[in-house]
Amino acid sequence: MTTTEFDKEYAELAKRSGELFQRASEIIPGGAGSSARTRKFGWKPYPLFIKDGLGSRITDVDGNEYIDYLLGLGPMILGHRNPVVTEAVVNAIRDYGTCFGLPYELEIEAAQKVVDAVPSIEMVRFTNSGSEAVGSAVRIARAVTGRRLIVRFEGHYHGWQDTVYWSNHVDPKEAGPADHPRPVRSGPGVPQELEDTLLVLTWNDPESFVKLMKERGEEIAAVITEPAVFNTGCILPEPGYLELLRSETKKYGSLLIFDEVITGFRFARGGAQEWFNVMPDMTTMAKGIGGGFPVAAIGGTKEVMSIIAEGRYSHSGTYNANVIQCAAVSATMDLLAEPGLYERQRALGFRLADGITTMAEDAGFPSRIDGIGTVFQLWFTEHPIHNWRDAEKYSNEELFTQWYQEMLKRGVLFHPSHLENLFVSLVHTDADIDRTLEAAQDALTAMARRG
Ligand SMILES: Cc1ncc(COP(=O)(O)O)c(C=O)c1O
Repeated sequence: MTTTEFDKEYAELAKRSGELFQRASEIIPGGAGSSARTRKFGWKPYPLFIKDGLGSRITDVDGNEYIDYLLGLGPMILGHRNPVVTEAVVNAIRDYGTCFGLPYELEIEAAQKVVDAVPSIEMVRFTNSGSEAVGSAVRIARAVTGRRLIVRFEGHYHGWQDTVYWSNHVDPKEAGPADHPRPVRSGPGVPQELEDTLLVLTWNDPESFVKLMKERGEEIAAVITEPAVFNTGCILPEPGYLELLRSETKKYGSLLIFDEVITGFRFARGGAQEWFNVMPDMTTMAKGIGGGFPVAAIGGTKEVMSIIAEGRYSHSGTYNANVIQCAAVSATMDLLAEPGLYERQRALGFRLADGITTMAEDAGFPSRIDGIGTVFQLWFTEHPIHNWRDAEKYSNEELFTQWYQEMLKRGVLFHPSHLENLFVSLVHTDADIDRTLEAAQDALTAMARRG
């Protein structure tokens, strides 16, 4: 199907969304509250406008219901309008208030549950968004070590703060050689001078990492990484790679920051650090921690967090640890503790991923799926994807776009970009997976017919 054909069908399918998009575009830049929801990020010809969500389903303003694998870009791990979390938040704001500018007991309860759940975290502070959490973690690392340099990896995303808004999905022509990438700003307005504070590397490449640490390890404040990369499709660490990041940072006195904004609570309650059994010094978390409510957190060892505890570093924020956040976190942590929950949902996700892989193969599409059950991506390539450069080079974007379009028409929603992924929530059911597999069979058959 050509883009124009799809646009015509979409105009029918999403007529009311189109009208709302026109209206929104007059007063909201790009017609949506985040650039991630606009044409630029793949929502073509315009984003769907949503009426409501319930559990694993989401319904648009034209009345189309979708099985939702977008999950609000990650946070809705307990599904939409989870009754337990919603009730906890509603009760808390009705019974206590929203924000006091002073601490309160529910904050301790929420913090304790996060400390209990995530293995490396001994102390935690709540904040409002992943970008805020990462911004603070990077500055804390510099303050703790007295060093300036931050190591980050191409294709990872750590939010929109100047210090880290670099080298996510940039023009490969500007990115330099793979063994010595050049930091590239992810957008205008980021001071070019900050380039000198960053060292950018190709992920899953042990040699370049060891070499850099040998040359500059003693100047490096922190190495920040997504422990599994979910901001370039879905890329898992090669065996031993996270362990290498851990041992080398320890050797040179640099801190290791796991940005678990996506990985946190997603395929294991203790996050990627529990799953891969590698412990960072600091962890940032957001999507998932509050079951869909807006809350993020920075956690760390007592040694690192003592800089805040002793007042040598001021981590402030009017809305930090407000009542909505702490009620949401506390209820979410309880729900995530259900025995067998992650095992069951990972198995569902693997069943879906395996089914799609077989169908794609039978339909004659070179493809592979990478993931950990509750999050995965279908790559239209047979070539292994180890990092962003591989994804740029080998992933067939055109086929992925067709796949997205055919699935959307069949009532299955996920992100239109091949560099994003599918999230399976902790409330998706066997019936959801069966229906999705039926849609996938139809979609891939339609794609194969087109040739
Ligand atoms: C790994 C990672 N870190 C940080 C962020 C920024 O989080 P937020 O959008 O809440 O600012 C994101 C957002 O997608 C993310 O995926």
